[in-house]
Amino acid sequence: MTTAIHAEDLNVYFDKNHALKGVTMDINKNEVTAVIGPSGCGKSTFIRCINRMNDLITNCTVNGKVMVDGTDINDDDVDVVDVRRRIGMVFQKPNPFPKSIYENVAYAPRLHGIVETVDGKVKRRKHTKQELDAIVERSLRRAALWEEVKDRLDKGGMTLSGGQQQRLCIARTLSIDPEIILFDEPCSALDPIATSKIEDLLVDLKKDYTVVIVTHSMQQAARISDRTAFFYMGEMVEMGDTKQIFEKPARELTEQYITGRMG
Ligand SMILES: Nc1ncnc2c1ncn2[C@@H]1O[C@H](COP(=O)(O)OP(=O)(O)OP(=O)(O)O)[C@@H](O)[C@H]1O
Ligand SMILES: [Mg+2]
Repeated sequence: MTTAIHAEDLNVYFDKNHALKGVTMDINKNEVTAVIGPSGCGKSTFIRCINRMNDLITNCTVNGKVMVDGTDINDDDVDVVDVRRRIGMVFQKPNPFPKSIYENVAYAPRLHGIVETVDGKVKRRKHTKQELDAIVERSLRRAALWEEVKDRLDKGGMTLSGGQQQRLCIARTLSIDPEIILFDEPCSALDPIATSKIEDLLVDLKKDYTVVIVTHSMQQAARISDRTAFFYMGEMVEMGDTKQIFEKPARELTEQYITGRMG
């Protein structure tokens, strides 16, 4: 098993609030890793460390390492735009841009352009219309949305149902070829059928990507994840194979949480 992400002694503060306390953990490549724990325990704060989204919060200080492909993404010479391209994120509430379905998916590739090596020189150029069309189709297919929207790509992304909007947001993330996709409670605003579609999709996506999902649903974590990490009050209490965590947790706190004996 290859490690996709190695977090080491991660500490996060919001002003004086020590929200993440010395978290060290490895996330495997091409697996689904679930992050569980009670509200306020630091799940979102943790996954925001993996693509430097905490940089956007002014009172937030992050210490520690997040190694992805042998580089600490917090290093000064790391391009944060590139970090967020390689490590995509999908949020709780579907948030399509107020643009067409097509534009939602084409937006980021258009912004990044194509990087090519011509005669030994690295050049960036714009996509052709055909190239963009191909990316839009491929991304929507990969997000299991193409068949539902192929005849109305020019319609607004906001005209879709909640579950479709979430798959559109996933397609938008896929459009720029990430390696890792972070999901922060992606199903909590969706009905059971839409949830089940997203769950199937996440399991399928791990063939090509590393998937990390924060969820409040232990059933969801048990259904779709390979490994589970349990957080409590800013600490990573226990991490292991999902089956082990739910059937034979090593720590009393984990046991209390998964059996619903925690407040
Ligand atoms: N933008 C912020 N500004 C100040 N404090 C924050 C901010 N975001 C999170 N915190 C604090 O950091 C701690 C961890 O919050 P976080 O959002 O990571 O928890 P969570 O496990 O994702 O909770 P939930 O399940 O409710 O989403 C909490 O004490 C919270 O108040
Ligand atoms: Mg959260």
